Amino acid sequence: MNKKKILVPLNNNSYEVSIKEGIINSIGKELDGIGINKDRKILIISNKEISNLFGEQVINSLKKYNFSANIFNIKAGESFKNLASLSDIYNTAFEFGLERNSLMIALGGGIVGDVTGFAAATWLRGIEYIQIPTTLLSMVDSSVGGKTAVNHPNGKNLIGAFYQPKAVYIDPETLITLPSREFKAGIAEVIKYGIIKDKVLFEYLENDKNRNKILNLENQSLIQIINNSIQTKACIVSEDEKENGIRAILNYGHSFGHVIENLCGYGEYLHGEAISIGMKIAGDIATEKNLWSKENSLRQDHLIESYGLPIQIPKIKKNKVLSILMGDKKVRNGKMRFILPKDIGEVDIFNDIDESQFLKYFD
Ligand code: GLY
Repeated sequence: MNKKKILVPLNNNSYEVSIKEGIINSIGKELDGIGINKDRKILIISNKEISNLFGEQVINSLKKYNFSANIFNIKAGESFKNLASLSDIYNTAFEFGLERNSLMIALGGGIVGDVTGFAAATWLRGIEYIQIPTTLLSMVDSSVGGKTAVNHPNGKNLIGAFYQPKAVYIDPETLITLPSREFKAGIAEVIKYGIIKDKVLFEYLENDKNRNKILNLENQSLIQIINNSIQTKACIVSEDEKENGIRAILNYGHSFGHVIENLCGYGEYLHGEAISIGMKIAGDIATEKNLWSKENSLRQDHLIESYGLPIQIPKIKKNKVLSILMGDKKVRNGKMRFILPKDIGEVDIFNDIDESQFLKYFD
């Protein structure tokens, strides 16, 4: 059976990401394999929908290896990625007597992963945690790299910590139950890796046969695109764990993606859909600045659309765009920090993009 392992090399807290079909049924074996002691208490954090689908499989596989675990569900949705959910987790951790050597497992998408990671980072000043992402978006992005957070009423992810997981286990078979729209939104992040660093991945995604295999959820092609994406993320994170420099390129397409999510209302556009439009805008600005060719820009847009993702910029007022970007501290003195493509597989960080170069895409 096809299995990939990727090391995320960091100074004191390196870890492995394992990708394998059916791995969700052997989490007990995997934890045993990385030396997790049987007497450590385990708290699995999930949400109702995901734990109904996969909770029993994970619990059974843990029991088989004599681990004891409990599941706690937080409410699903961005509006519950908050301090109240975090507080519920702390109360449960107290109830189950989670100690310094206990373990949390995040079973679910990006919200579950981010909240669990932050709960683990802060409970008893930090206990170990495992990521088992069940959406494509969280597999290729948020489960790897140690960004953990909850939202503050004034903004997304304002309360958080860099806190790396002990291990990440990815089972492409969990994607079978993911709604197609969410799966496609995850592809946007995969396309992002193609643009920022991996031309071979970009070309793989462009191929008609591969596209059919991916959209038909064929395990081998899923493992391939997830593996390539995480290889790039691992490489960038190991170079710049706390985003002092190069890690910012992982935010390609995200500046305007966040503007769109924010101004159109979370839920109107999924994250991946919003960053698809963000990548389109970045591509157009790069063409105007003669950083890359019109042909490359069209190639990017065509690829995005070929996976059923949007590139049409919604009608948004210029002043609203500016106020969001200024709130994000992205615009200073009329100049914006922006990730722009120079080729397929190469981007750079620009600090000198003038307001006029991006406001023209808005009303
Ligand atoms: N999602 C971007 C990062 O992990 O840095």
